[in-house]
Amino acid sequence: MTSRPGVLVTRRIPARVLQALETRCEVDLHTGQAPISREELLRRVRGKHALVCLLTDPVDREVLDAGSDLRIVANIAVGYDNLDVAYARSRGVEVTNTPDVLTEATAEFTWGLILAVTRRIPEGERLLRAGGWKGWALDFMLGSELRGKQLGIVGLGRIGLAVAVRAPAFGMRVAYATADPVPAARAGSLPVPQMEPQSFDQLLATSHVVSLHVPLTATTRHLIDGTALARMKRTAYLVNTSRGPVIDEAALAWALGEHLIAGAALDVYEGEPAVHPDLLALENVVLAPHLGSATTETRTAMADLAVRNVLAVLDGQPALTPVP
Ligand code: GLV
Repeated sequence: MTSRPGVLVTRRIPARVLQALETRCEVDLHTGQAPISREELLRRVRGKHALVCLLTDPVDREVLDAGSDLRIVANIAVGYDNLDVAYARSRGVEVTNTPDVLTEATAEFTWGLILAVTRRIPEGERLLRAGGWKGWALDFMLGSELRGKQLGIVGLGRIGLAVAVRAPAFGMRVAYATADPVPAARAGSLPVPQMEPQSFDQLLATSHVVSLHVPLTATTRHLIDGTALARMKRTAYLVNTSRGPVIDEAALAWALGEHLIAGAALDVYEGEPAVHPDLLALENVVLAPHLGSATTETRTAMADLAVRNVLAVLDGQPALTPVP
């Protein structure tokens, strides 16, 4: 780099990572608690050479046109449905995401949701805090056991596989439906269990827990609609740590209210941070505020990877993790 390039960072990032960026670049950091407003984003991206943004920042044609000097957009997220990748590329702008570094944290969190919903942990805590617990009883707040049942993974990419490899610890067998090539060689440190490939409809009809791990695309939007929910067993649970619009929330609220399925656990929503009001009123759904990758270690690694992508591209080197 000859002169110090300008970088807009749309949210606070860990101090150590910010310092690494500041040693090489002029950093314009949005420090507010809320996401940067559209107006601010359009104003402050002008003249910048790099944009470090979050999944809450839509980076569309208007933003890319405003940022006509941009050489890279580095999304601090593995998902990149908030970015117009094709348009960025047509302008010669590199686009990167943060795969791998969040796989384990998201898989761990998915299992947290599976256990929370099948054993009714948040529901029990709500009842206890409200003073409703009258003591131990043989038939009190019974959940459903995992052992001997089928976990159905929809989308067997990195995170889907990381969830699958943890299933034997709970005595579950695994089925998967995927459009991705089967990643036999990408199992992290845990052995890959026997996994049965199934059609999407077969997986819905035979799984005790259906866990979603697809990216949000035109094909996967409302993949889980009323028809899909009706295919599931009445005793089954749906878990979503991917993207909210993969589920038709109104249809899910209806299915949960009618007990067409036993329960759901969600980390992501169609209109974040809004949650469908009917879901808020139901007991048989666990609602988390998009925490899948939210560990100190992982969020630091995500920011660090985004910054390393920026520095590489501004140095004229290839990006480390360009979006596919
Ligand atoms: C989080 O949802 C991510 O895509 O990283």
